Amino acid sequence: PLVAAGELVARAAVSRTAVAAFNVITLEHVEAVVAGAEVADAPVILQVSENAVKFRGGRLLPLANAASAAAEHASVPVALHLDHVQSDELLRQAAGAGFSSVMYDAARLPYAENLAATRAAADWAHAQGLWIEAELGEVGGKTGQPPLDAHAAGARTDPAEARAFVADSGVDALAVAVGSTHAMTTRTAALDHDLLKRLAAALDVPLVLHGSSGVPDDELRAAVAGGITKVNVGTALNIAMTGAIRDYLTAHPEAVDSRKYLTVGRAAMAETVTRIIRVLGTTG
Ligand code: G3H
Ligand code: ZN
Repeated sequence: PLVAAGELVARAAVSRTAVAAFNVITLEHVEAVVAGAEVADAPVILQVSENAVKFRGGRLLPLANAASAAAEHASVPVALHLDHVQSDELLRQAAGAGFSSVMYDAARLPYAENLAATRAAADWAHAQGLWIEAELGEVGGKTGQPPLDAHAAGARTDPAEARAFVADSGVDALAVAVGSTHAMTTRTAALDHDLLKRLAAALDVPLVLHGSSGVPDDELRAAVAGGITKVNVGTALNIAMTGAIRDYLTAHPEAVDSRKYLTVGRAAMAETVTRIIRVLGTTG
């Protein structure tokens, strides 16, 4: 069934696990995430990013409606989240499209501007009954953004600043920059667990890890133990899908029916979903 993302995150916090949130781009991604979560018998979040909406010609509803329908028919709780929203026009579309939560991304702006924009987004979201996540510090590596030095001053989230940011913006959850980077194709990120511990102590909202595809299993487990309650994964699905399709097409150069290779691509994504959910310790 379709449930609220905030509830899943709150439940994960109580059980000291984390809920996995997967970025979906195609219908196959949507089906794979739900199927993978059903195998793990765990709740899951389907997230649609602003970049995915751009890929779909700027239209949110084709993917959102597919995700809603898949959620309603799932045997596990599934929530819809609108991810990395920078456009106010897209933000406004979250209401009424099945989304229970949004991530408003003004992390590239200077602190005061990030705070002002995030507070306005949070006021709007709460008036609509939506849960809202924001980012302070910068995870970096997002498609369409200049590369970021994850070790540069200001890239990591500062605990005292984060405390003030959450209090002054009113957001329900915070994405923190603790050493992960978006779109990594190797699982080699080393997280700053001491910083995470200080952030968890300073903040009373759930903490979100972005760029989790590049984070090894033991680092993910440590992050969950350290207070991360939502884990965002995108690239790992694309690695699984593209790899499986490439193998299939190499082995079957005569293939033309798209269902043949989409079937293996979707199955590879579903396996990745189940595996990551099990690492996070989430259960139904
Ligand atoms: O918000 C989405 C995530 O941060 C995805 O990051 O593609 O590096 O796993 P990833
Ligand atoms: Zn992200």
